[in-house]
Amino acid sequence: MKKILITGGAGFIGSHVVRRFVTKYPAYQIFNLDALTYAGNLENIADIEQSLNYTFIKGDIVDADFVNQLFQKHQFDGVIHLAAESHVDRSITDPLAFVKTNVIGTMNLLNAAKTIWAASFEGKRFYHVSTDEVYGSLGTTGLFTETTPYDPNSPYSASKASSDHFVRAYGETYGLPYVITNCSNNYGPNHFPEKLIPLFINNIITNKSLPVYGDGNYTRDWLYVIDHAIAIDLVFHKGHNHETYNIGGFNEWRNIDLVKLLCQKMDAKLGRASGTSEQLITYVKDRPGHDLRYAIDASKINTTLGWKPSVTFEEGLEQTIDWFLANEEWLKNVTSGEYSKYYEKQYS
Ligand code: NAD
Ligand code: TYD
Repeated sequence: MKKILITGGAGFIGSHVVRRFVTKYPAYQIFNLDALTYAGNLENIADIEQSLNYTFIKGDIVDADFVNQLFQKHQFDGVIHLAAESHVDRSITDPLAFVKTNVIGTMNLLNAAKTIWAASFEGKRFYHVSTDEVYGSLGTTGLFTETTPYDPNSPYSASKASSDHFVRAYGETYGLPYVITNCSNNYGPNHFPEKLIPLFINNIITNKSLPVYGDGNYTRDWLYVIDHAIAIDLVFHKGHNHETYNIGGFNEWRNIDLVKLLCQKMDAKLGRASGTSEQLITYVKDRPGHDLRYAIDASKINTTLGWKPSVTFEEGLEQTIDWFLANEEWLKNVTSGEYSKYYEKQYS
């Protein structure tokens, strides 16, 4: 029986990865380690909580003693590391929190894995989940490949780039068997409403303004979260040690075009007259250091492992909107309390 530690499994992407592994691999024991920060929510994985091959552990990856003891106790065979501070805007107001969790937290996991696997790396794997933002910003043309030089611009992407470098360094220096994936922007069910798509869905539902940063001409490549979870499953099982794979949606959108599409779809779903939600669009002060464009060349994972997105953006967005409309209670719960203070500070 394989023992696998998934970190950050109560968050957005992690919850989909935990669900996939718990349900698809009954012979694996899945341990979900999560500190339950503002972004972690056990409601995201309530449906699998009682599964016999699943254990939740509340804990902080920044605490080295705790992490070491956990690895000693459970002797994990594999780690899929998603726990992170993940929002660029928060990294601008509190960069050190990103260094702690994303850099030191990753170091603690690397050290603990290296120690318990010291006798043999055979059959072991450290999977580090990262972002395309480490490559910095593209101009109007070109794509990020696995060999694009790192050039991070935000404290978030700098902290993720740093953690990627340490993972690679542990591979080179100590022989740690690792894989890294760098993925584009995800969207889908359980997305915390501080990021563009869920924030705007929530604001449309509640008739609040839609704060578009700058001129809205920034471009992102969007991937449905379940397709990311499928890719993680594939790379964990079939990826090659010491390799990086880019994961993307082949799906670039200018923010303003995406927001207008979302408005149209939401008007139709909510039975509002066409054009109603677009009136909520408000151009606001730009994000400092705002990356112009991200776009992924995902041909390596496509040609070597056979992965490609399983849903179109149209389908994924429909499913996402339907999920949020069917889960207004979830939305209300995550936007009560702390969220309103964050919102006030960020957008006032
Ligand atoms: P998220 O913010 O929704 O979830 C992060 C989870 O990590 C939360 O459950 C939180 O409680 C937990 N966590 C935070 N600090 C912790 C700590 N110190 N100890 C233990 N747990 C802690 O993030 P997400 O969007 O699901 O992203 C998951 C991973 O994927 C991150 O590493 C992120 O960099 C990467 N990623 C995200 C995207 C995206 O579009 N969201 C794209 C590419 C890569
Ligand atoms: P976000 O979802 O924060 O992801 P990232 O910055 O990691 O790509 O933002 C996606 C894009 O949307 C980015 O160009 C910033 C922009 N944006 C807004 O215009 N308004 C907002 O309120 C937010 C949160 C983002």
